[in-house]
Amino acid sequence: FSDFLTDTFHRQHDYLRISVTERCNLRCLYCMPEEGVPLSPQRNLLTTPEIVMLSSLFVEQGVTKIRLTGGEPTVRPDIVSLMQQLGSLRSHGLRELCLTTNGLALHRKLDAMVESGLTGINLSLDTLDPWQFQLMTRRNGFAAVQKSIDRIFQLKRAGAPLKFKINCVVMRGLNDREILDFVELTRNRDVEVRFIEYMPFDGNRWSQGKMVSYTEMLDRIRERHPDLERVPDRKNDTSKTYRVPGFKGKIGFITSMTHNFCGTCNRLRITCDGNLKVCLFGNAEVSLRDILRKANNGEPIDEAALESLQKVVMEQKGASSSEGVVVPNAEELLDVIGMA
Ligand code: GTP
Ligand code: 5AD
Ligand code: SF4
Repeated sequence: FSDFLTDTFHRQHDYLRISVTERCNLRCLYCMPEEGVPLSPQRNLLTTPEIVMLSSLFVEQGVTKIRLTGGEPTVRPDIVSLMQQLGSLRSHGLRELCLTTNGLALHRKLDAMVESGLTGINLSLDTLDPWQFQLMTRRNGFAAVQKSIDRIFQLKRAGAPLKFKINCVVMRGLNDREILDFVELTRNRDVEVRFIEYMPFDGNRWSQGKMVSYTEMLDRIRERHPDLERVPDRKNDTSKTYRVPGFKGKIGFITSMTHNFCGTCNRLRITCDGNLKVCLFGNAEVSLRDILRKANNGEPIDEAALESLQKVVMEQKGASSSEGVVVPNAEELLDVIGMA
């Protein structure tokens, strides 16, 4: 394995998350304001050839898993073609190609994606009640999501090697009464339902009172299922996994608010405008897009560019080292993207 992607905590950064759009066709209360997010000018966004180029560079350097995220990735018009091109990296060492989606438009594109090599879907669904769905996402669309879920299970039953997880952000007073219904989904289905602690983002009106902690969720589930058992962690798991004995699926908890999991986080992130972000909580970002575009114009990377890159990275390193997060230095980064 390439050392360039291994940090001083011996975390191998072999999992790359790429945001392919900032747009979304829902307006979940905990994520976006009604009016949506301000959109970047088109020229600032990575083009599909740029995403494919960066992905192949990272795969060459040891990345084995790529996840496409958003916004909502399925609203990118050429998402299927992008998936096809990334699918071809499987012969270069890519083992998992995954998608995080709200499922609204997925059913139309799913079969083609699976044919392209999609191996995992994390679907965000916070309620099993159409009315509550409308309340939490500010849009209609429950039936469309259901259609996508049905198709996922059909494909799995037909033998498609698809890992399927449902992400459920739990908010007190809104969907917390559905926790046991979500657990019930795992009785006869091969799915992992992950409950996510509600996190504060800019302007999402977070309050401590609305957040339901991992331990509270666990207590509530144990009242009904006292024999709930812990499934041992796999390396780089960021969720804590459990199962009800005899149930086909699993449940998990993403405890971003109450139990920090930085020590096992192996993710690298590329934002849709081409910035590399090592930590979700770090503010500093390094523009791979600019380096790429510069290099593509035949210009070598100059001292000044390298220095400013180094500075940003060092700042980020300083800011996040107390959380045990250490990012590669500038030379390593350039190596990572194959341009040192
Ligand atoms: P897999 O492990 O491949 O299933 O995916 P994932 O959990 O990394 O991805 P997903 O897109 O489903 O994200 C699930 C939740 O984890 C979301 O709420 C993210 O905001 C959160 N998340 C993802 N990466 C990090 C991270 O590094 N730190 C924290 N605190 N939360 C993260
Ligand atoms: N708190 C917790 N999880 C969130 N997500 C989006 N916003 C928040 C938040 N404020 C989740 C989505 C999706 C995943 C990628 O991030 O539900 O499943
Ligand atoms: Fe945000 Fe995802 Fe909801 Fe869209 S579907 S608003 S990106 S949480």
